[in-house]
Amino acid sequence: KIIVLDFGSQYNQLITRRIRDMGVYSELKAHTMSAAEIKAWGPKGIIFSGGPNSVYDSSAFNVDPEIFELGIPILGICYGMQLMAHSLTGGKVESADNREYGRADITVLSDNAKLFKDTPKQQTVWMSHGDLVTQVPDGFKRVATSENCPISAMQDVDRNFYGIQFHAEVRNTEFGNDILKHFAFDVCGAESNWSMDDFIDLQIEHIRETVGDKRVLLGLSGGVDSSVVGVLLHKAIGTQLTSIFVDHGLLRKGEAEQVMASLEGKFGLNIVKVDAQDRFLSKLAGVTEPEKKRKIIGNEFIQVFNDEAQKLDGIDFLAQGTLYTDVIESGTDTAQTIKSHHNVGGLPEDMHFQLIEPLRSLFKDEARELGEKLGMPSDLVWRQPFPGPGLGIRVLGEITPEKLQIVRDSDLILREEIKKAGLDRDIWQYFTVLPNIKSVGVMGDGRTYDYAVGIRAVTSIDGMTADFARIPWDVLQEISVRIVNEVDHVNRILYDVTSKPPSTIEWE
Ligand code: XMP
Repeated sequence: KIIVLDFGSQYNQLITRRIRDMGVYSELKAHTMSAAEIKAWGPKGIIFSGGPNSVYDSSAFNVDPEIFELGIPILGICYGMQLMAHSLTGGKVESADNREYGRADITVLSDNAKLFKDTPKQQTVWMSHGDLVTQVPDGFKRVATSENCPISAMQDVDRNFYGIQFHAEVRNTEFGNDILKHFAFDVCGAESNWSMDDFIDLQIEHIRETVGDKRVLLGLSGGVDSSVVGVLLHKAIGTQLTSIFVDHGLLRKGEAEQVMASLEGKFGLNIVKVDAQDRFLSKLAGVTEPEKKRKIIGNEFIQVFNDEAQKLDGIDFLAQGTLYTDVIESGTDTAQTIKSHHNVGGLPEDMHFQLIEPLRSLFKDEARELGEKLGMPSDLVWRQPFPGPGLGIRVLGEITPEKLQIVRDSDLILREEIKKAGLDRDIWQYFTVLPNIKSVGVMGDGRTYDYAVGIRAVTSIDGMTADFARIPWDVLQEISVRIVNEVDHVNRILYDVTSKPPSTIEWE
């Protein structure tokens, strides 16, 4: 196994993910872990992740210097490389004249560059940094260079220390996977023997150990993540699990019925369904600010849980389908907040439960793989992601029953047409949104002044980055005609053609 120390990069968990994809177990750990603790964990290799700091910031993250004495191979990525240069004798880090962000071409300088074995001399990488290493530490050699970053990679084969200024873990780095593979297998001597089945066994064991004979409450949203958690927990602790399915009035059309039929009907989960539409809508009345809406929905959700849990006896744990993307974008000790995700950011301080989040280290596609391994039907596993705050963040600004109705009805039409066109597996996520725009139109012989509905459809691997989906014009036309004709108060359709970044997938 390989340990990744977290210095706050948005990509840090992606590193562990790439390593797991190679069949080597990997976990992200706090950079504050001591050398002794790391040694006790027993990794074959250590990776320092990137991070937003400069090594010269007063609040910069450091490592226990003893780490360099453990005799375990280390790979520093971006900030990780700078930290390595800063911590070891002879190295020097300076702020770059040209901040680099995005694609860069590097030249590999040595035939002996271990991480670049069997890759071309010229290759494209993904850079994102303000500082750079200007002098390698004693014992190191520079092994790759680029126009704006003279020392793009360095190595000390005797001590098995490696540094790369670019992000090998993102797909935009052409040979990033090869580089990580060379580190894991050639340098660290790791073996490829880990799979999702091991993850299931490990989690089941861990859940049983944690829970003992206590009872667990699960917040079921109907989405892939919480459904997978439900089936996993059911497998681990059976009837000790009670699931609560809150209908917060922000669900898609037909969703509640489907969830109940499948998870309760087919899988035998014990589900309590709560109709809380009025509670949520009255709390949200008049609120327009997106982060405030998210927090209210998150808080209310937990509140409903508390209320329901009190009706049940002896519940100690609350399980949630939090994924890694939810964790990272809500901000961690080391990474910055982008949006507070419902599963994480909205938790009140005085929560009475202990949390169980078995998917916390996984990406969406890993959660799906897990679902398939658990024998869940593909229509459930391949359900497109649906955010915890639901349609609440797809009605921009104030939420009203009329606006929710428009989103619900238009969304159903979109889903039907995408399915009819056979695009439902190709497009990662697709939905309609209701921006607060009214515009003039003409229907029959009369003037209309009605809402515009936005269509958002993206392709993505893990939700961290996304591209807008290229829905064929004739399919778009069919969707547009149907929504305008069938949904009241809509006279215009917009198509969102931005990727993430710079946009996010949801509009709020
Ligand atoms: P964004 O809008 O941040 O969305 O690009 C990335 C993915 O996450 C989903 N999403 C959420 N999921 N709770 C969730 O469980 C949330 O609060 C939340 N907000 C966004 C979004 O639908 C997309 O798939």
